[in-house]
Formats: sequence, structure tokens, C-alpha cells
Amino acid sequence: MIPSLLAEIERDMTPEAGAAFMIIASEYLARSRDAGEFVGTSRTPQQLAENFRESLPQEGRALTEVVERVARDVIPDSTWLYHPHYLGHQVSAPLPAAIWMESVIAALNNSMTVFEMSPVATVIEKQVVRWMCDLAGFPAEAGGTLTSGGTEATFTALLAARAAALPHAWERGVGNEPPVIVCGEHAHYAVTRAAGQLGLGTQSIVVIPSREYRMDAPALAQRLRELRESAVTVMAVVATAASTATGSFDDLEAIGQLCDQHGVWLHVDGAHGASALLSPAHRHHMRGIARARSIAWDPHKMMLLPLSAGMLLMRDEKDLDAAFTQRAPYIFRDGEDERSWDQGMRSFLCSRRTDVLKMWVALHRYGATGIGALYEHLCTTTRTLHAAVAESEAFEAMHEPESNILCFRYVGRRVLKDTQLDSLNRELRVRYNASGAGWITTTLLGERLALRATVMNPRTDAGHVNAVLDGIAGLGRSLERSGQPHS
Ligand SMILES: Cc1ncc(COP(=O)(O)O)c(C=O)c1O
Repeated sequence: MIPSLLAEIERDMTPEAGAAFMIIASEYLARSRDAGEFVGTSRTPQQLAENFRESLPQEGRALTEVVERVARDVIPDSTWLYHPHYLGHQVSAPLPAAIWMESVIAALNNSMTVFEMSPVATVIEKQVVRWMCDLAGFPAEAGGTLTSGGTEATFTALLAARAAALPHAWERGVGNEPPVIVCGEHAHYAVTRAAGQLGLGTQSIVVIPSREYRMDAPALAQRLRELRESAVTVMAVVATAASTATGSFDDLEAIGQLCDQHGVWLHVDGAHGASALLSPAHRHHMRGIARARSIAWDPHKMMLLPLSAGMLLMRDEKDLDAAFTQRAPYIFRDGEDERSWDQGMRSFLCSRRTDVLKMWVALHRYGATGIGALYEHLCTTTRTLHAAVAESEAFEAMHEPESNILCFRYVGRRVLKDTQLDSLNRELRVRYNASGAGWITTTLLGERLALRATVMNPRTDAGHVNAVLDGIAGLGRSLERSGQPHS
């Protein structure tokens, strides 16, 4: 069996075999240009599962058969993020050069744990992290690591903050009176999750209310004073730039000044919005970022890289070294020069993909200026959507967009009560997405159910966002007329 298997493997390494996968991927990229195609599947999980209910394949098949199966059963019912009416969650329509680089990353399969396993990718990661630290205004001693995403980046930053506040927590735990983490009411769940993971407990989260969806800085000032007076240790303040629900930026300058005054670690969750640093027109939203001691920044969001590519930047790389106090002599060795290059000591993961390579390729192919211009373009399209919502009698915008996210509501003839509109908008999203004509999300803002559009696809233009709005309005009218489900 082995000789024939080895021959098959060799055949699968040929350009023709590789091209078979690239062809179906590029056919998807071409077909998804057509706004008349379906954005997502209308099938239920049970119907989809039916397609894949099969016994474990014991014998291999011809590559062409496998590729055909992917084209037939995987691509059509997946969510088409490159469809111009996809305005859903914050996952990007990825830049093509980075898509193709994925196959090189997988072919090389180097692991970022130790320099000797990924010599080129390790030095490239250092370089790319340095570029990003420069954009944030961080000093020479700054550093960082790529992560699987914003959740891991924020977890790691808070682990480093824990090491600063409780240097013995790694060995002894956090004790009975753990320090607190302060964040805004619209912070991502990554923050409470980290509090749980770090042994602080989610009850050690102190929530600051928002004003216009941003952390209320005077309320933060007051709370920090109260905590100091009660002798409670604040492990970190987490500011959000920009928030998941509305894409609003906390005032980093004001929050940073308060953290400096109180000697508190400032972590900025810039998973979504730190890419504004690449855009001259949007950089001002990040004013004050250099005051952060750590920054989470997801290139797989607004830098339009394919999943996954997250990043953690530290103002002082030594803080990251202190986060993980790990001894593992089979992999990490003391006293060697190369060791200072090993990224595994600074990461939650052991095996780690060389995701930085696709980021480096994207920066070389499109330039920081090009990627910054795309950021701006996504935000401009969102403003166009906002203008259309503001002009329409049938809709109400719930905020001004500061980035590429807009929350709004269908209000129709304005005769329904708020709670009825909540039910109607919830149902509207379900039916609109099931129609395949477009794809949006919902969120809760205060008590109210909001429709939420996020422009993550550079193909989406003014015509597309107007078509999405018309589609939602049409469905909204028929739901309102039918009296369901809000009666
Ligand atoms: C502000 C913010 N932080 C963190 C995250 C989590 O990022 P990831 O999904 O890359 O872990 C998100 C994702 O939506 C986010 O919007």
C-alpha cells in the first residue's frame, strides 16, 4: 500500500493538483461578485448535516472527486463573505494575495514556537510587530506576538497585567481578594472571559457605563478614585477601540491620562479598530493609543486578512516575557542567543501557524497605504448606508457610525410600541437572511433590539447598501401588514 500511497501523495504535489483547489476558490470569488447569488444558506442544520452523514472514509478517492465534492457541498452552502450584500459579523472578505499565501504557509508548516522551527517567519514576525508598534507610537523596547485573534490577545495582555499586579500568581494563584479589571459596558466578552480564565472570577470585573456607546471617562475617573479609597487593586483598565456593537471608539487620550494618574495598566482592545492607525482620515480615533501598555489588534478584521491573524503589542516586551513563566527543557533552553528569538515563551499556544507571512505578503502587495485606504472605503460605505437610513421614513439610525458598523431599526409606520418593534426587527433579520438576498446581524442596545450592518467587503458599494435596505424595508412592510410576530 505504501508505495502506491506515496505515489498519490507525490501526484497531489503537482501544480495541477494545487490548481484544482485554487480554481474552485477563484470560481467562488468570481461568482460572489454577482449580487443576484445567495449570500448564505437557507438550509437548516439538520438538512446540512444530512449532506455529510456518512461513514468514516476508509479508502481514499481521486483528488478530482474530492475537489468536486468541495465545490458541490461545501462552497454553495457556506456564508459568502465576498457577496456584496454580506453585511454580517466582523469577519473580512479577505485580500486575495493573503488567501493564496495560505497554501504556502500550510506547505511550509513551520511552527512559531521556537526560532529553529520557523527561522524566517520568526524574524518576519518581529519585523511586522515592529512596524505595527511604530504605528502605535510605541518605543524601541516594545514588542509583541501574533495570536489566534483578539480574544487570545486580550487574555494574554491581562495575564501580563496579572504578573505585574501579582508577581507570584503563576505559582500561588490569586488569593482571596483578587484585583479588579475595569472596562466599559460595551467591552467584548473577551474581557470577562479572561477574568474567569485568570482565576480572578468574573465578579472582579467593574463595569463603567457608556455615554453614546463610549466608556464614560468622568464615570471612570470617579470609579478609580473610589477603588483607590477602598484600597482595591486595579489590575487593568480595558478601553475598547472600537466596540463590537456600534464600532464606537473610547476616548483613549482621556482614559490613558487617568490610568497614568492612578498608575494603572491600560489595555486597549483594538481588535476591531486599531487598523484605523493605517488611515490618515481615521487615525484620530486612536489618539492616545501610545499611553496603552498593551494593545489587541486583529489584522483578520479591518486589515482584511483571512482567519486567523490576531496580534498583541506590548509597550515593553519584558511585560510579555513575564506573562508566561514556563519551564519546558525539551523545547525552551536557557542561555542561548537564539532563545531570545523564540516566540513560544510569549504565547498561549505551543504549535502556532506562521500567520504573519500572509500579513507580510498583504502589506507588500497592497501597501500600508492601500490597506488604510480600504479601511476608509469600508467606513465611507457605512456612512452612505447611514445617510440612506436617515433619509428613509421606515428606518431609524441608533448612532452615527464612527467606523464600518451601523445599528438601526425598522420602524415602519411608527405605530408599533418599542417591544413590538423589537420582535418585528428580530424576525426581520431571520427572514431577510434566510431569503439569501443579503446578510445582517442584530444586537441589543440598552433594552432595544437593533439591526446591525458591518461593511467588511471592499466590493460593497452605495448601490449594494441601498439594495439591502430596500430588501429589508420590503420585508418589514409585509411583516407589519401581517401583524406577526409583534401582535
Ligand atoms: C472589540 C472586539 N474585541 C475582541 C473580539 C474578539 O476577537 P476574535 O474573534 O478575533 O477573538 C472582537 C470580535 O468581534 C471584537 O469586536
